[in-house]
Amino acid sequence: MGEAEAKGSSSKDKRWSLQGMTALVTGGSKGIGHAIVEELAGLGASVHTCSRTESELNNCLVEWKAKGFQVTGSVCDVSDQAQREKLINTVSSEFNGKLNILINNVGNNIRKPVSDYTAEDVSVLTSTNFESGYSLSVLAHPLLKASAAGSIVFISSVGSAMPANFGPIYGANKAAINQLGKYLAYDWAGDNIRVNTVAPALIKTPLAQRAFEGFEEGIKTTISRTPLGRAGEPEEVSAMVAFLCLPAASYVTGQVIFVDGGMTVNGLFFPAPTLKPI
Ligand SMILES: NC(=O)c1ccc[n+]([C@@H]2O[C@H](COP(=O)([O-])OP(=O)(O)OC[C@H]3O[C@@H](n4cnc5c(N)ncnc54)[C@H](OP(=O)(O)O)[C@@H]3O)[C@@H](O)[C@H]2O)c1
Repeated sequence: MGEAEAKGSSSKDKRWSLQGMTALVTGGSKGIGHAIVEELAGLGASVHTCSRTESELNNCLVEWKAKGFQVTGSVCDVSDQAQREKLINTVSSEFNGKLNILINNVGNNIRKPVSDYTAEDVSVLTSTNFESGYSLSVLAHPLLKASAAGSIVFISSVGSAMPANFGPIYGANKAAINQLGKYLAYDWAGDNIRVNTVAPALIKTPLAQRAFEGFEEGIKTTISRTPLGRAGEPEEVSAMVAFLCLPAASYVTGQVIFVDGGMTVNGLFFPAPTLKPI
């Protein structure tokens, strides 16, 4: 290999690697968060993750160690401000005051008609789906800035763009996240912090299983309105998240990217009918 070719391939390797970078992924013990932890760690990042259930988190940490990934974890309920502050303190001491990547993944829904929500439901949904990501981003801002190349990814939902007959408060909070991501991208561009949002449709995770419990018809209808004709896998979301964190995505900020099998495109006549040429 010539010198120029060797130089080219090493700069290409750097664009597609997270080697030497640090990441915090919230809600990494299951579902999409679990896949994101594995994706980032597989690309070379040192990852810290959290969830509320200690035993499940510890099982994951053992599995990741066996796979050779550098992952640590701590118990944290991200809907609680004191616990969020503790989490960022832990991450700061672990990564020496610098953080390259923050993935605000945690989210949850309460399935109810809109008029049945209590004030408590609204408060729980808002602190889990909106305040957690907002507050963790603000708390992590000094660490992301200190890394000199920061990236935040929010996990939103197609529910942020398309109403469904369950989850109005969830959807409204996810829409707020889409907009928050744009504001932070604008505010923090000068600190070289990029901020993007990934909005999935139906993905095979424990959350989706809970959401559609006793509503199998809902899964069929959802899939029938998805041009790719199937639900997604967590790895199909984590791949997009990882791309947004890579140096290769260095000019991408302030975007909301739907990973939805085409659901938000849908089309006027869907599924597309076969028409006689005229
Ligand atoms: N799956 C889908 O079809 C779908 C579609 C669109 C958007 N999304 C979004 O994708 C994200 C991940 O969803 P998922 O389907 O992977 O969910 P999931 O299967 O329920 O997994 C959620 C993860 O977050 C943790 N978690 C939940 N609440 C937490 C809290 N308050 N504090 C800390 N950790 C918490 C869970 O562990 P513990 O329960 O032990 O805390 C678990 O590790 C969410 O933002 C969701 O809204 C999912």
